[in-house]
Amino acid sequence: MRKKIVAGNWKMNTLPAEGVELAKGVAAGKSAAGECANLIVCPPFTHLHSVVETLKDSGIAVGAQDCATEAKGAYTGEVAASMIAALGCKYVILGHSERRQYYGETSETLNKKMAQAYANNLTPIYCVGENLDEREANRHFDVVKAQIEEVVFNLSDEQFRNLVIAYEPVWAIGTGKTATADQAQEIHAYIREVLRSKFGAAADDCSILYGGSCKPSNAAEIFAKADVDGGLIGGAALKAEDFLAIATA
Ligand code: PGA
Repeated sequence: MRKKIVAGNWKMNTLPAEGVELAKGVAAGKSAAGECANLIVCPPFTHLHSVVETLKDSGIAVGAQDCATEAKGAYTGEVAASMIAALGCKYVILGHSERRQYYGETSETLNKKMAQAYANNLTPIYCVGENLDEREANRHFDVVKAQIEEVVFNLSDEQFRNLVIAYEPVWAIGTGKTATADQAQEIHAYIREVLRSKFGAAADDCSILYGGSCKPSNAAEIFAKADVDGGLIGGAALKAEDFLAIATA
């Protein structure tokens, strides 16, 4: 049985005190909500510590939005996976399309980041997804396959068992435009098939999240699909109420 996961990617939003308030809101809402998906929140680095403290004993896990390619040393401005793990974080988002697009992250960089994450017992949430031109040229399957082959296929079987994948079509991120539930299911099933070709039956235990303008009004339909195991939520994760409405969808 694969885990249902709803993860909030706060991106570069919230000041530290606002982040703590948001985390408190999510924790309070979760206890009231009853049954819901496994929750993860990914605040900016500056408030990872205070959010981990706030969410202690809440059953909500905390993740970072990125980590360095190197273990430590003279890399001004970087944050090592060991530092993130030392704060009590369990997850790290890697390969988000904004990192690929604005900061030039490639499969080569991401292989190093994945290695750092695993060396520090962090579970990567590895993001894949095509842009609008690629979708319109009907190249989305190939793009996603390459993003998986070039990075995920380098993992050991044991590392693969500790991986979450997020499919996020770039044209749907922050645009208000969502993939239809059928489009999501089609590519999620394809991703699982690619994973199965390398990792066999373990692919059936890998949670594949959908991301891209997921909101309370569309989450239930998308999450109902067989190969969609939850969501990676940006904008709607900044309101505890919306985030929880998605998590209970
Ligand atoms: P969005 O972002 O929900 O604001 O579209 C999703 C993401 O980038 O993770």
